[in-house]
Amino acid sequence: MTRSEQASESMRAVGFTEHGDIDNFELLTVDRPTPDPDEVLVDVAAAALNHQDLFAVRELDHYVPDYPFWGGGDISGHVAELGADVEGWAVGDRVVVNPAVSCGECEFCVDGEHSMCTDYNVYGEHRKGGFAEYVTVPEENLISVPDDYDLVTAAAAPLAAGTAWRALSSRGEIKPYEDVLIVGATGGVGTYSVQIAKNVFNVDTLYATTSTEEKAEFLRDLGVDHVINYTEEKFEERIWELTDKRGVDVVYNNVGGNTWVPAMRSLRNGGRLLVSGATAGPNPETEIRLVFVRQLEVIGSTQNSQTDIDEILQYVWDGSVEPIVQATYPLEEYEKAFEKMADRDLYGKVVLTQQE
Ligand SMILES: NC(=O)c1ccc[n+]([C@@H]2O[C@H](COP(=O)([O-])OP(=O)(O)OC[C@H]3O[C@@H](n4cnc5c(N)ncnc54)[C@H](OP(=O)(O)O)[C@@H]3O)[C@@H](O)[C@H]2O)c1
Ligand SMILES: [Zn+2]
Repeated sequence: MTRSEQASESMRAVGFTEHGDIDNFELLTVDRPTPDPDEVLVDVAAAALNHQDLFAVRELDHYVPDYPFWGGGDISGHVAELGADVEGWAVGDRVVVNPAVSCGECEFCVDGEHSMCTDYNVYGEHRKGGFAEYVTVPEENLISVPDDYDLVTAAAAPLAAGTAWRALSSRGEIKPYEDVLIVGATGGVGTYSVQIAKNVFNVDTLYATTSTEEKAEFLRDLGVDHVINYTEEKFEERIWELTDKRGVDVVYNNVGGNTWVPAMRSLRNGGRLLVSGATAGPNPETEIRLVFVRQLEVIGSTQNSQTDIDEILQYVWDGSVEPIVQATYPLEEYEKAFEKMADRDLYGKVVLTQQE
């Protein structure tokens, strides 16, 4: 008997009933959701953590979920129940979830720019996610997982890989002959960025910054040509030295805070600064003169379109880009998982599992 066949109307979820910090996460018993006609119910196998799960509980100003709220934007599982209008999926199908939900009708959706949708929302941020036994998902957000690909590894892919792909490929248009710098490269988006730059685009020289010598070694093994420990030296000065005072073509910076201006200083004239996050702070001091004197482009990127996620997952399924799963914990051991992320003790992704 599958869990959905059990008569139970409730389910377990790891969430919070008020904002604060990671101590606020608890194992809750909540109502099991019912799929709308165009949705399916997914029996969650695994859900990976993302930094947005910390932002959600810490209540940055744009997070206004209803309570109890549980995150988990990176979801894999089996289709457990079909809404009345769903065609093309069957109970038992193995899936991951495209975390970006869009209306499909606004000018941006019609243009294929789903993450610019006027009614855009994301699992784990605006929608309750996969830190629960079940989640409802619009039919168009389901993506089939190949039979030989395990669901725990698959869960580590969609959100972080989709974000890195859109930023570097669709928005940043990085080229094989370019030099690229990734700031803060050891987390989820960071480890995908390294592999996308190196394994898919085969960029000329790949630079990355990180915070410890162990992490630097890990990044070298992952394919970074030059790793700079930004707790020990000014990375913009090192980049200047390594590029013979030219600067790199592209910087991808999701750290923000006091790395923002140094990231601009690391760019060549006409270089591109890609940004899709601000882990260390969204309101840094800036230097407008650098933008116009060097004629820099600042390019924002958010999550992924349907094309973006289809493209990057092909590279995941064929092994060109591998989810780095540092640790897995059963759902009820969520505290260890959140601590790892909050302590910045990350080498890739951490996954909460419910099934093998
Ligand atoms: N716009 C979007 O759609 C979107 C989607 C996904 C993620 N994001 C954003 O992108 C950022 C990265 O997300 P993620 O899930 O990959 O995060 P993550 O797995 O927690 O990784 C964050 C990495 O940033 C570095 N870092 C630098 N300063 C930090 C600080 N003060 N606190 C914590 N980490 C710091 C760390 O690497 P080192 O120790 O190597 O420096 C860390 O491994 C987040 O800001 C997230 O909100 C945005
Ligand atoms: Zn739309």
